[in-house]
Amino acid sequence: MTMFKKLALSTAMALGLATGGAFAAGDMGHVEDYSFSFEGPFGAFDQDQLQRGLQVYTEVCSACHGLRYVPFRTLGDEGGPHFSEDEVRAYAEQNFEIYDEELEDFRPAIPTDHFPVNDGVGAPDLSLMAKARAGFHGPYGTGLSQLFNGMGGAEYIASILTGYTGEEKVEAGTTFYENHAFPGGWISMAPPLMGEDVEYNGGHPNSLENEAKDVAAFLMWTAEPKMMARKQAGFAGVIFLAVLSVLLYLTNKRIWRPIKHKHD
Ligand code: HEC
Repeated sequence: MTMFKKLALSTAMALGLATGGAFAAGDMGHVEDYSFSFEGPFGAFDQDQLQRGLQVYTEVCSACHGLRYVPFRTLGDEGGPHFSEDEVRAYAEQNFEIYDEELEDFRPAIPTDHFPVNDGVGAPDLSLMAKARAGFHGPYGTGLSQLFNGMGGAEYIASILTGYTGEEKVEAGTTFYENHAFPGGWISMAPPLMGEDVEYNGGHPNSLENEAKDVAAFLMWTAEPKMMARKQAGFAGVIFLAVLSVLLYLTNKRIWRPIKHKHD
């Protein structure tokens, strides 16, 4: 085998592992390939979807999960949910109380506060969950599958929320719920969404799948609020490299021309 053939073959094998093999991997759970507006090199967050996702988080998930790394004021950021300043202030004030060390008491949240920590029932903080689970089913979390299938933490979270089978079991006093997407197949979080859990503005459809995708998109944003900027910078980088390559190619040709064409 030539060196090149060997290389091509091992590359193909690596890719095969990254894509096809992912689903076969025993205990890893099955993740639906939901599509999201922010996938692909030109993808962007859908502002309305982020707002709906925030609503699902606020009305359902925040009962157990915190978002400790997310400041309320970022809800006003362009590229994110993009609420007005007044809306952000009203949202924080109406929905959350913060323990103020100076007052030694609770007070309504203000935009500069972060979403509160919530470790009451041992539910993990969701701020960075979408990134923490991004490489969940590539070989050793290399993220290759994410690259080739556009699958990442958002798909995983949406799949967890839609992945319940309805089976339950009790082990050592804890109830576990069967879930296709959760590694190992049993999760201690009771199904948080059934469909029609929240009333969206304008009667936007609130099926289980829509609510799951909306909150998953919102959690992708909390984990990577600058994803758009990163993609744009990446794209500018690719163009820059492409132009640079052409220039170098032409320069190279020019430099060697007198030598290659000595006998012209
Ligand atoms: C009644 C409390 C409760 C509610 C409400 C709740 N969760 Fe959970 N959640 C938990 C607990 C407890 C765990 C830890 C489960 C485990 O590790 O077995 C968990 C785990 C998770 C995980 C982590 C799975 C992993 O890979 O470790 C995600 C993601 C998640 N919840 C998302 C949500 C979302 C989104 C909502 C709102 C739609 C929500 N949860 C509502 C209690 C809750």
